[in-house]
Order: sequence, then C-alpha cells, then structure tokens
Amino acid sequence: MKRLVVMISGGGSNLQALIDACQTGTLDAEIVAVFSNRAGVYGLERAGQAGIPAVTFPLAPYRQVGRPRSDYDQDLAKLVAAFEPDLIVLAGWMLILSPVFLNHFPQRVINLHPALPGQFPGTDAIDRAFAAFQRGEIDHTGVMVHWVIPEVDAGDVIASTAVAINAHDSLADLQARVHATEHRLIVEATHLALASP
Ligand code: GRF
Repeated sequence: MKRLVVMISGGGSNLQALIDACQTGTLDAEIVAVFSNRAGVYGLERAGQAGIPAVTFPLAPYRQVGRPRSDYDQDLAKLVAAFEPDLIVLAGWMLILSPVFLNHFPQRVINLHPALPGQFPGTDAIDRAFAAFQRGEIDHTGVMVHWVIPEVDAGDVIASTAVAINAHDSLADLQARVHATEHRLIVEATHLALASP
C-alpha cells in the first residue's frame, strides 16, 4: 500500500477528502501521518478521528531563539522521512518549503493551489481572482495540483481544472465552488502522482 504524508495548516477539508478516498478505496493508499505547522487546527482533529498519527511542528520556537529557517526545514524533513512516505501532499500547508526540505524528497512532493497554473501564486488566490473578475480581467478561475519546486505555486502541473465565476456570485459562492472542486481534484491528482514513474 502506498504511504502518504499530508501536510496542513488549517481546517483540513482537503485532508478529509483524502481520508475519505483512502477509506473507500478510491485511493489505493494510506495516510501514515498528518503534519501541521499550527497547533489546535481542526485538521488535526480530523486526523485524530481517522486514527492517523498527527505531528504539530511550529516554526515559532526556531524564530524565538534565532535559529535559521534551514534548521526548521532540516528537522521537519527528518520527522517526515521517519514515516517513509511514497508521496507528500501539501493540502493547505502555508509555509514555503526550501530546497533543504525538498532535496530529501525529490519528485515526491505535490501541492494544491486554488487557481489555474501561473495565476495568483501565493495566498488569498480565490479573493484575488474574484477581485480580478469584478475588474473584468478574467471570466473564470480554477484549481491546480503541481509538483513542488522552491518557486511558490510553480512546478510541473499534475492536474488542473477551470472553475466558472458567475455574474451574480458572491465571494462566498466562489469560495464554495472552488473548495468543492479542490476536494475532487486533490484525490485525482494524488492518484496520478502515485502512478507516475
Ligand atoms: C485550500 O483552499 C488550499 O488550496 C489552500 O488552503 C486551503 C486549505 O483548505 N492552500 P483546507 O484546510 O483543506 O480546508
């Protein structure tokens, strides 16, 4: 059975989609650990309810004593490596991973981003897409899953799909539609990534 480590920073609705897919056999894999850089987030409760080991590994203690970011990435990589993942899925993980981390897992880290390839890299992508729509610059947005490289929300695309924006949509309407699309695409893309050579 393929081994997944899922990394989160918040509510974990995409983690839940992966948990459900593994439980129903839609995904031929098991989630062997969930990592969060934030304590007390709901995603950790989802892991607990599914009986999945969860690790909370915040960056702040490193910052507080002036240790470099590379130390955090190095220690995080060691902790993740201990679970022997075939694939690492960033599902709402909000810290940028440097080569210090990525070099431990060549071509084994994928990330979910709520926009189309090359669009709205970074945070608040749905809000920024909605604002661009209101300015008449775009008429749709999308979701993508890509292999992770040091550049934010870049890297070879594994799967992407467009998401419509309707004239009478509120931001909340768009957010709901994008998140629903994410929950489907993260499962499909994880399957494709596990099948890739
Ligand atoms: C998702 O929209 C993801 O694309 C973004 O952060 C959000 C995480 O949502 N990077 P959740 O924690 O999976 O509900």
